Amino acid sequence: MAGHDVGHRLTIVVGVTGGIAAYKAVAVVRAFVLAGHDVHVVATDAALRFVGKPTFEAISRNVVETDLYEGVAQVRHVAIGQAADLIVIVPATANTIAGLAAGLAGDLLGTTVLASAAPVVIAPAMHTEMWSNPATVANVATLRSRGMTIVGPAVGRLTGSDSGAGRLAEPEEIVAAALAVLRPRDLEGRRVLVTAGGTREALDPVRFVGNRSSGRQGLAIAAAAAARGAAVTLIGANLEVTAPASMTVRHVVSTLELEAAVTDAAPGSDLVIMAAAVADYRPETIAESKIKKETQGDRLTVELVRNPDILAGLAASRRPGQVVVGFAAETEPDDERLLALGREKIARKGSDFLVVNRVGWNEGFATESNTVLVLDAAGDIVMEASGSKESVADRLLDLLA
Ligand code: PMT
Repeated sequence: MAGHDVGHRLTIVVGVTGGIAAYKAVAVVRAFVLAGHDVHVVATDAALRFVGKPTFEAISRNVVETDLYEGVAQVRHVAIGQAADLIVIVPATANTIAGLAAGLAGDLLGTTVLASAAPVVIAPAMHTEMWSNPATVANVATLRSRGMTIVGPAVGRLTGSDSGAGRLAEPEEIVAAALAVLRPRDLEGRRVLVTAGGTREALDPVRFVGNRSSGRQGLAIAAAAAARGAAVTLIGANLEVTAPASMTVRHVVSTLELEAAVTDAAPGSDLVIMAAAVADYRPETIAESKIKKETQGDRLTVELVRNPDILAGLAASRRPGQVVVGFAAETEPDDERLLALGREKIARKGSDFLVVNRVGWNEGFATESNTVLVLDAAGDIVMEASGSKESVADRLLDLLA
């Protein structure tokens, strides 16, 4: 699972309650730990009937708290909640949700939530009938009205043979939604356009010339901008990752389609970030039917023609106040020469900022992490970041916001 971080180490309480989906809480705990946070699991007795304490202790690297009557000298029943930056309850059963809505303090999770000023994120999981029962609906509305964030539930396969609303949201979604709660809303009211993925240029109905961009870096930027309050449009070229519902997504395949979508959306955007890997060339002609080796023989020559430079066009036509950010993917191993290539590229493209990242067989493209430096229009380094693509996205938005 990708690492997410919000720039500093948080104390996160993960409350686990008694549902079959408790096993997925392990993945949530692991993602928080891998992102560098200090995670304390508070499990109800019912939760520990589904997943054992040792699993949570090994994965969280902390003692699992369960009992109101342990650590009384340290006033654990309130201390855990007081120390938390964030509380995430995963899965939250109908019973737990009812207890929270009523303000019950009969177990350690109840006292922890009541004693805490931290944001609370709740990921419900239950059967559809329980989720849509008026009692649960009213309890969830109460929790929302108190500022708690509800993630999911998803619609899908439930524990038995049935399906419907009530399936726990995917761990990745829970982690992203939880950390988003702590993000500053410093892009509220801003319209942000992000391109992501790699364009494909068709050779014939079944083949294309393309690149290895997965769309991860662009999607991380789009998701972080949405979490900071922006209205986000993502133009995705052949994405290998799924965009969350927090943004408008337009799917494109080729560079010319990307150009049309960008030309359409850019005028209404305050900030445009071109993270897509865009093909510089496309085949001059696209064969109507599959190119056959029987007719081509041992060699096949394909004539390529230049694609428009979308970023350069955007930068040249940007309106006052609009900020245009390009990316530069370079395979140059030497730091000095990489920097020089970045400086040449921003001068040529004319964008306000250029995010330079080294790419190769095993870096930049399709990986979980990235290492970048950001140049301003004068070619000066204004930021350097290394880490998960989510953390790079956040650092970049810290700079731009
Ligand atoms: O998607 P991932 O797997 O997470 O990988 C992320 C990434 C490595 C693809 C990303 O971080 C990145 O570097 N994207 C830019 C890749 C690229 O096309 O770089 P470039 O140096 O060829 O292009 C420079 C800039 O001009 C880019 O902003 C590009 O979007 C833009 N461009 C390029 C060609 C073209 N015809 N039109 C353009 O607008």
